[in-house]
Amino acid sequence: MQRNLNIREATFKDLELLAKYDDQVNQTPWTKHRYHSSFTNRDKIFILEFNSSKEIIATIVFNVVGNDSDILQIWVRQEYLRQGYSEILFKYTIEQLINLEVSQIFLEVVEYNQAAINLYTKLGFKYLHLRKNYYRIGGNSVNAIVMKLELTNL
Ligand SMILES: CC(C)(COP(=O)(O)OP(=O)(O)OC[C@H]1O[C@@H](n2cnc3c(N)ncnc32)[C@H](O)[C@@H]1OP(=O)(O)O)[C@@H](O)C(=O)NCCC(=O)NCCS
Repeated sequence: MQRNLNIREATFKDLELLAKYDDQVNQTPWTKHRYHSSFTNRDKIFILEFNSSKEIIATIVFNVVGNDSDILQIWVRQEYLRQGYSEILFKYTIEQLINLEVSQIFLEVVEYNQAAINLYTKLGFKYLHLRKNYYRIGGNSVNAIVMKLELTNL
């Protein structure tokens, strides 16, 4: 981890800002209410921030159920895209999941979200199957690709 970066768990006070930043960059953003329910459901929310200013850079939300984990959301703030931040946050999350003895990670991604698909592929995720009409975006039904990372193969 670079010295000017820090990763911490979200607190209740972060949730409004997370919804605001998510909405600025994501095709499938979560509302503040959705962040609240994730928070109270005991999903994990990690925030990547600058150490000095505490400015939020990126967020990942996931759960752990037995030996499985689902990545529920990930985004990087518009002004910090393509600087390697999602990779830093995701690799940290994978390390935490390995410590929790998780053996496989699942996620869904919009089938044309090439930036995210490239990120997941770079991290070792493999295509599992297509979920038809999984998302509603701008009034349209959109397919999701389900991807999986086997941690036991790393
Ligand atoms: C997907 C997302 C999280 C990537 O974050 P990022 O910090 O910009 O990505 P990084 O700089 O860490 O890049 C890591 C890898 O992701 C891929 N990638 C990231 N942005 C990309 C883009 N615009 N086009 C193609 N590939 C891209 C590349 O493989 C890249 O590796 P490389 O630099 O060696 O080519 C970011 O684009 C985002 O927040 N998008 C909006 C929210 C979203 O779609 N989330 C996913 C929901 S499933």
